[in-house]
Amino acid sequence: MAYQDLREFMDLLKKKEHLVYIKRELENGFEISALTWELAERLGPAVVFKARGYDMPLVMNVHGTLERNCMALDIEPGKNDKENFLKIRNRIAEALENKNKWLKPVMINNAPCQEVVMVGDEVNLYKLPVFKWSPLDGGPYITMTNIITKDMSNSNNGLNTGMYRVMIHDQKTTGVMCCKTQDIGIHVGLARSKGLKKIPLAIALGVDPVINIVSTTKMASFADDEFELAGGLRGEPVEMVKCKTIDLVVPAYAEIVLEGELDIDPKNARIEGPFAEWMGYYEEPMMLPQFNVTAITTRKDPFYQGCILGHPNNEGEMIRMPAIQANNYNILKRTVVGFREFWAPHKSRGYKVVVQISKRFPGWGKQAALAALSTGQGMAAANYAVVVDDDIDIFDQEAVDWAIATRMDPAKDVIIIPEMGVYPLNPAASGREDINPETGYTEFSYIGKMAIDATKKIASENRRSTGASVLPDEDALAKVKTNWESYGLK
Ligand SMILES: Cc1cc2nc3c(=O)[nH]c(=O)nc-3n(C[C@H](O)[C@H](O)[C@H](O)COP(=O)(O)O)c2cc1C
Repeated sequence: MAYQDLREFMDLLKKKEHLVYIKRELENGFEISALTWELAERLGPAVVFKARGYDMPLVMNVHGTLERNCMALDIEPGKNDKENFLKIRNRIAEALENKNKWLKPVMINNAPCQEVVMVGDEVNLYKLPVFKWSPLDGGPYITMTNIITKDMSNSNNGLNTGMYRVMIHDQKTTGVMCCKTQDIGIHVGLARSKGLKKIPLAIALGVDPVINIVSTTKMASFADDEFELAGGLRGEPVEMVKCKTIDLVVPAYAEIVLEGELDIDPKNARIEGPFAEWMGYYEEPMMLPQFNVTAITTRKDPFYQGCILGHPNNEGEMIRMPAIQANNYNILKRTVVGFREFWAPHKSRGYKVVVQISKRFPGWGKQAALAALSTGQGMAAANYAVVVDDDIDIFDQEAVDWAIATRMDPAKDVIIIPEMGVYPLNPAASGREDINPETGYTEFSYIGKMAIDATKKIASENRRSTGASVLPDEDALAKVKTNWESYGLK
């Protein structure tokens, strides 16, 4: 079953006691941020509230638990986070591979997202309840975005929608984070190769939850249409409408749409930030392109959907972590010999990745670790990869630590890869460029990578074989379990 829009999903969350309407008005961005921090701490419900000075209600923490992200994808939630993670990851991984089940969007006229149209002097981003959320932020940030661009060099390629942060500079201008490692960065590069200085860009806010999830998903190819994937995941096509002032289409049932042009002339790049980021650190200021807003279109009574990052359980991590790993899983399933499972542990924020294999021949552990560092996400974001055998539960990081501690010889089982350019947001990186000479934006930081082979060693690797793991006699253990109470034990 597809949710037509955010509201339909909010109704379901309310019915299932996953959404609370807060009656008192919140004072400012810091109070809102502290509230969402505490909600993340308690894995609490989605909340709807008003902020002082604004009529438009805010809705936050809609995607704040894996259970709710299961509901968003119409998946029966599992018993725990591991089950929920796997259900979501597998659903997206399968959908990415089954393009024959994708559904093309359908176009409609008279869309709810255009009930109110503001152009010219009516355009004022400060009408949105967007605040400076964290004490050191450089300005007010729009976070839960669906940023839509197209390939200006090839009209056969599909639309991209990506969740990228947006800082408000003034009434009509924002920055947009668009790095080369992301699909929007590819669109910028291709447009520049055609000599363009501006590209149409739309930001849809408050959409059906599947679209938010797709916007955080890494596609197998930037050329694929992310709204077709969303249609496949929903089981119904996404309804879209033409923008009022630019040549693009947007989800018809969005709450709010910002239309405009992204100025990709490097001369017009502008500094923004710092910003309290998902990995728990402030990111330094970045040089980014400016987005000139030509229209704000909304419903008659729009909700503003947002999220605030930083806490280990922040809503961004809950939505992003399974979605971003689906493509890695598909790639590693195809390329790693003996592949069993892959996980980027949630709390390591994607900088650590773990692969589980059934090793039968020498060297498979090292091959798997290098492969995990070579996927798009692995190259851009993972600082190290650990490979373990199939007797280790990779979703139990203490078990992974036991494998590292007992199966890894630091002199023989660790490959250090020299410093390379990666995604700019990497707190451990020793260097981060302020301005990339080619694009004019902040594009890369520089850091080495580490591949750890924590698999059991075998004689054919010219090693002393790792001893057999200790386990009681199987029959004796079964009997002890059956007869537990006969020992006078509870
Ligand atoms: C709340 C939130 C904010 C995000 N902000 C950014 C951002 O500013 N820049 C970025 O490169 N990725 C950001 N991401 C991660 C991207 O959404 C993710 O990598 C996605 O795959 C990008 O889409 P793309 O693969 O089509 O480029 C954010 C994710 C979330 C959940």
